[in-house]
Amino acid sequence: MELTRQEIIRLLSDEQKQGDLFKKADEVRRQYVGDEVHLRGLIEFSNICRNNCMYCGIRRDNPQLARYRMSEEELVDTARKAAEMGFKTIVMQSGEDMWFSRERMCRIVEQIKKFDVAITLSVGERPYADYKAWFDAGADRYLIRIETTDKDLYHRLDPGMSWQYRHECLMALKEIGYELGSGIMVGLPEQSIESIADDLLYLKEIGVDMAGIGPFIPHAQTPLKDEKGGTLDLARRTMAVMRLLLPDINIPATTAMESLHPMGRILALQSGANVVMPNVTEGEYRRLYELYPGKICVNDTPLHCKTCIGAKIMSIGRKVGMGYGGHAGKLPHGAK
Ligand code: 5AD
Ligand code: FES
Repeated sequence: MELTRQEIIRLLSDEQKQGDLFKKADEVRRQYVGDEVHLRGLIEFSNICRNNCMYCGIRRDNPQLARYRMSEEELVDTARKAAEMGFKTIVMQSGEDMWFSRERMCRIVEQIKKFDVAITLSVGERPYADYKAWFDAGADRYLIRIETTDKDLYHRLDPGMSWQYRHECLMALKEIGYELGSGIMVGLPEQSIESIADDLLYLKEIGVDMAGIGPFIPHAQTPLKDEKGGTLDLARRTMAVMRLLLPDINIPATTAMESLHPMGRILALQSGANVVMPNVTEGEYRRLYELYPGKICVNDTPLHCKTCIGAKIMSIGRKVGMGYGGHAGKLPHGAK
């Protein structure tokens, strides 16, 4: 659907009429992507990060966090178990941990590809040659949020990083042939509604296949600890407008939404979302991958979460997707 910047701003601002917006987004979701909710098994395989984002709990300068890194074998084993549980997409996410070199990631992707799954990588900014090698090794999708399109805000919040370079990473991923996932946080300090409208127009313009939108949640061990953070309602309105702008893309009900409200993901699924990414990381690691406080499911097992979210999906009359769940039916490398 075409919406002008002014219309987007009005929809994002109108708290009174947000119910109508959610209803409309839910209808568009049903019409374009149906009632299936696609599950992705999320593995958080290292919390070591070279960056220092002001909002993020695993930033380099957080000395209070115990760091971990899965071994190659552990990571492949976690993926194998997730595939055995029925996940058709495995998302591998980490901080920007350079121990996972181009070659090492290639080996990991090649091994996991044998489990007949779509592979999504989310390991941050890397040179073109890394992205290309991983794609050729079998990776299908890549997630890298632009976070905000307000460049001044970006440079204040991500010291030492370049908005332009991040944008170029997105362009490179798309050119290589990845299904591209991006997204933003809402409720960042000094982020305006106008700037969120620009973010949505940017995501439409670059043609994302997936867009993740979550509220910013202040973390006590970061410089932004005393900030207000985003609300579930604003995150939902943003997500709903995204659905209107890009009716057939994949939109996750984000974990950060559930961290603010016990029904956050269900509310998201009823206002435009069609994807959930249950955590399949095991043991202590779950707790240590703390991007923001109040993260859900830190004491649960992968099977518990899969069962829990499956039941929630059915309770609202939706179905758990059985396929790979690519954008517009796109199949992963080597799918039969
Ligand atoms: N609150 C909410 N989301 C956060 N992220 C990082 N830190 C926070 C926070 N404090 C999000 C960023 C990142 C994604 C992996 O997690 O958008 O891209
Ligand atoms: Fe983890 Fe419900 S999804 S307990």
